[in-house]
Amino acid sequence: MTPKPVVLPKLPTDLDQNRLPQHVAVIMDGNGRWAKQRGLPRIMGHQRGVDALKGLLRCCDDWGIPALTAYAFSTENWGRPLEEVEFLMTLFERVLRRELQEMMAENVQIRFVGNLSSLPPSLQTEISRSMADTCHNTGIQFTIATNYGGRQEIVQACQAIARRVQQGQLQPEQIDESLLEQHLYTQGLVHPDLLIRTSGEMRISNFLLWQLAYAEIYVTPTLWPDFDRTAFHQALLAYQQRERRFGKI
Ligand code: IPE
Ligand code: IPE
Ligand code: MG
Repeated sequence: MTPKPVVLPKLPTDLDQNRLPQHVAVIMDGNGRWAKQRGLPRIMGHQRGVDALKGLLRCCDDWGIPALTAYAFSTENWGRPLEEVEFLMTLFERVLRRELQEMMAENVQIRFVGNLSSLPPSLQTEISRSMADTCHNTGIQFTIATNYGGRQEIVQACQAIARRVQQGQLQPEQIDESLLEQHLYTQGLVHPDLLIRTSGEMRISNFLLWQLAYAEIYVTPTLWPDFDRTAFHQALLAYQQRERRFGKI
C-alpha cells in the first residue's frame, strides 16, 4: 500500500459507530466498463481496481470495520479471454508480493478463499506465504475470494462431510448448519452484514451464497475503480437506514 492519503481517517459524524457492519463483502464489478468509457483496454480497469480495493481496506481499518471480503475472481471468470485471465493472475501475484510487507506492518490478517489448488503455482506460493505470514495478526480480517464460487464451496463442504460419514466419524443426523459452516472456506468469519455491488448489476453472481443469507444488499451504479471513501460512506449511510428483521416482525 502507498503512504496514507491526507484525508481525515475519522469516522464521518453522520455514521453511528455502534451500528457499523462487522463484515463488509464487496463484488468489485465494472472494471471493464470503466476502461471502455476511457477508450482503454479492460486490463487498465483491473489495474485501477486494485487501487480502489486498497483504499477500501484502509477505510474499513480507519473506520473500525473489522472484516472485509472482496470478490476478485469467480469460478465462472475462467470463461473470459485467456489474455484477460492471464493478466489477472499475474496482477494478483504482483500486487500480493508488493503489498505484503505493508499489510503485515498494518497488522492485516489475510485469507484467500476459493478453489486455490487450480490457480497458477507461483500465485499459490504467494497466497500461502501471505496467509502464513499474517495469520497471527490481530487487525482487520481481509479475505480475497479468488477462483471462488458459492456453489463450488458448498459442494466441497458436502464432499468433506461425506468422507467423514464414510469413515464412520459422523452420523448423517449430526449434519446441521453449524457443521456445514465448519467446512466452508469462510469458517470462523462472521457472516457479512453488508454486501456492496458496484456498477449497477442486481445479482450475486455466485458469491458467498450461504453466508449472505441475511446480508443487506447495496448496489451502486459507481464503477469499481471509482468506488472511493465518499461512495463507501454513502453505502454505510444506506445500511444504517435499513431495518434488519431476520424474519421477525
Ligand atoms: C470485475 O470487473 C472484475 C472481475 C470480474 C475480475 P469486470 O471485469 O467484470 O468489469 P465489467 O463488468 O466487464 O465492466
Ligand atoms: C462477479 O463479476 C465476479 C467478480 C467481481 C470477481 P462478473 O462481472 O463476473 O459477474 P457477471 O458475469 O456480471 O454476473
Ligand atoms: Mg463484470
